Amino acid sequence: MIRILPSLRFTPLLSAAKPFCSSSPARDPPQYEAKTAPVSNSLLSITPKTPLFLRTPSHATCLTEVWKWHDWAKDLATSVEESSNDSEDSLESVILHRELKWLIEDSIEDDPLVILHRSEIADDGEKNVKLRASLEELYDLWRQRIENRRPFQYVVGCEHWRDLVLCVEEGVLIPRPETELIVDMVEELVNRDGRFKKGCWVDLGTGSGAIAIGIAKVLGSHGRVIATDLSPVAIAVAGHNVQRYNLQGMVEVRKGSWFEPLKDVEGQLVGLVSNPPYIPSDDIPGLQAEVGRHEPKLALDGGIDGTDSLLHLCHGASRMLKPGGFFVFETNGEKQSKMIVDYMMTNDLKDCFSDLKIVPDFAGINRFVTGFRL
Ligand SMILES: C[S@@+](CC[C@H](N)C(=O)[O-])C[C@H]1O[C@@H](n2cnc3c(N)ncnc32)[C@H](O)[C@@H]1O
Repeated sequence: MIRILPSLRFTPLLSAAKPFCSSSPARDPPQYEAKTAPVSNSLLSITPKTPLFLRTPSHATCLTEVWKWHDWAKDLATSVEESSNDSEDSLESVILHRELKWLIEDSIEDDPLVILHRSEIADDGEKNVKLRASLEELYDLWRQRIENRRPFQYVVGCEHWRDLVLCVEEGVLIPRPETELIVDMVEELVNRDGRFKKGCWVDLGTGSGAIAIGIAKVLGSHGRVIATDLSPVAIAVAGHNVQRYNLQGMVEVRKGSWFEPLKDVEGQLVGLVSNPPYIPSDDIPGLQAEVGRHEPKLALDGGIDGTDSLLHLCHGASRMLKPGGFFVFETNGEKQSKMIVDYMMTNDLKDCFSDLKIVPDFAGINRFVTGFRL
């Protein structure tokens, strides 16, 4: 079951169209290490939610009642178009209908066609079907999607990303399609130069663990990846996803601010990747409702011009990578990418990196900065 489209619902975490306003790339990077939150016992015991498709189908319900719910849900999805005020941020009925189909696929143990095409197969309405959520919960989930603009991925508890299905929930960023390219770039490098397969990689600000897991799969049995995050929910969810893919032996999840939990591997990394928060603070209130209202600010807000974390990462990369080590950073787009490259070519970083490149994403937006430690 591969879903390619749901993430397209989201504005990528940039808006290349939105201006950001810095003209002072040479300022000192902010100091983050002191911000590390102490790990309290209650935070350590966060248990990630089970996504709908992995729940036991323990709710037996007669088909007539499920059809009733489906009719109601379709009507609600259709009604958004009628009530839409044509604002850029309104819901689109066609996308909601697609999501409704996926919600059914994730919820029902039987063939979803018994709900979706009932007239064609003339099913008996009295027949019981097994669901992974009660009907009451399904009513509630669909209301949350439409009335609260809760992202579909949080509603069903997972996102399809690359060849993975990752658990996600509130408190963890939903991985975006353009970020898949980071793993593609690592894969290309590793295939070209086998030395990158054996050393230690780091994914900073790992969120759901998407990039770290993707890289671990690319590296195969020799690889080692450390995934870090400051958010306790992200740490719990990333750890859970790592376990689901049985990669505990290869991916280590560490809590802390950026390089603070990585002192033992300083100067030893063959690769360092990050998709840090990079949205300028002033753009946060204008984000699509699904993003601005529901996704964690810690994952989005990159400070005044969006580059606070990126600049910090530039300095860290110079310390953490071994000579020849590779890095990729995701940015907000053209201006940030250029600013990061300029920053890395000047000041105390000017002799640290080689082969700095700006790499476009699927949409042709200059999204990534890559390079090697000299
Ligand atoms: C844009 S999200 C990226 C998440 C994930 N890597 C992905 O691509 O889907 C940025 C991540 O950085 C984390 N983060 C923010 N500040 C951090 C800090 N000071 N140290 C470590 N991680 C941080 C957030 O919690 C969030 O998970």
